[in-house]
Amino acid sequence: MKFDGIYEKTLVIIKPDAMQRGLIGDIITRFEKKGLKLVGLKMMRLDEAILREHYSHHVDKGFFPGLSKFMQSSPVTVMCLEGLEVVEAVRLITGITKSREAEAGSIRGDLAMSVACNVIHASDSVENAIDEVQRFFNEEEIHEYFKSEYEFVYAQDERA
Ligand code: RTP
Ligand code: MG
Repeated sequence: MKFDGIYEKTLVIIKPDAMQRGLIGDIITRFEKKGLKLVGLKMMRLDEAILREHYSHHVDKGFFPGLSKFMQSSPVTVMCLEGLEVVEAVRLITGITKSREAEAGSIRGDLAMSVACNVIHASDSVENAIDEVQRFFNEEEIHEYFKSEYEFVYAQDERA
């Protein structure tokens, strides 16, 4: 898996609330319209082990058992998105954790009201994004390909 070019990769998880509420298409559409490149996409079930690893900084918190149960309540959709400074860009599109206070126009601001049921997860730093993409995807599930749209999504000096 390549993490050494001009473009970053980030991980997004479409959480069980969004799976149940029929929001998968809307969420993917927002990232597509932004100009981000989809390089990995699949549905999967998360177990306690992967959630303890993924939320290791939250394992000792009171909300973790509820969070773990919620994240295992249905399959999730995981995606890997690529772009220039994409980790920060996707966090902005995601909105803050407490959805009912998230900025209008963000995914949480537009589509959710809850703290726990907040529609998606997005990697919060470049270092964590590298770990998270490798946690959820195998090498062969990440697709490197030419996207012609980049000619118009980025200026020449922003292209690899
Ligand atoms: P995420 O990791 O899912 O992208 O969300 P985040 O960075 O905005 O929030 P974070 O602080 O990392 O929390 C991870 C997820 O745990 C649930 N949570 N519940 N009940 C609570 O007080 C509480 N606090 C956090 C949320 O699902 C949050 O997205
Ligand atoms: Mg987080």
